[in-house]
Amino acid sequence: MNKRVVILISGRGSNMTALIEATRERDYPAEIVGVIADRADARGLNAAAALGIEAKAITPTDHADKVALDAALDAELTRLKADIVCLAGYMRLLTPAFTEKWAGKMVNIHPSLLPLFKGLDTHRKALDAGMRLHGCTVHFVTAEMDAGPIIAQAAVPVLPGDDEDRLAARVLSAEHRLYPLALKLVAQGKVRMEAGRAAFDDLPADGMLLSPGSATSETDIEQLARMTP
Ligand code: GRF
Repeated sequence: MNKRVVILISGRGSNMTALIEATRERDYPAEIVGVIADRADARGLNAAAALGIEAKAITPTDHADKVALDAALDAELTRLKADIVCLAGYMRLLTPAFTEKWAGKMVNIHPSLLPLFKGLDTHRKALDAGMRLHGCTVHFVTAEMDAGPIIAQAAVPVLPGDDEDRLAARVLSAEHRLYPLALKLVAQGKVRMEAGRAAFDDLPADGMLLSPGSATSETDIEQLARMTP
């Protein structure tokens, strides 16, 4: 039986789209059954609906506090019979009760090679630090932001002349390939959260660390660089 996945977003939803498309491929062990945004104007909501996915907003303005917001979120996940939750640009810290309830079943993608550069402005931080490699990480979500057990990472080069937009685009392209690979492992039960670590059955064969050489063409990067988050 395919795992039922709900994606939480706040904006553009390009990772969401990548996940929806990947899960529609033959033999993928999960399906996206809903998309929830924390803002009614999140562009990804329209994109999800256009792809035939049930999409709705659950916003802080409609709820008294964070606890009430996360309770509404949890109720919706239960209604959708979610097995797995994917955060994809969800710009809100979840309450400890919520992260505890979904521990081991909730994953996030972060645009840096964690534990470097937690939080916002990761591409600026990587450039300021003079990094030659940057990338993205899929990890289990715990109460501490961007600190949960690491499932998969992809590295991309930092090239001469990069600015934040070009670097972000190169990382985003890697995100779109990494997230579906990581979700597949979670859906298959090949990686689990155990004692605060990601425990693997065996080493995944299908490239969980994408090497710099596998970055897509510069034309693709130019296109992605024009996408606003
Ligand atoms: C991505 O860079 C993701 O890593 C970060 O937020 C951004 C969301 O972009 N958490 P999108 O909405 O998936 O296009």
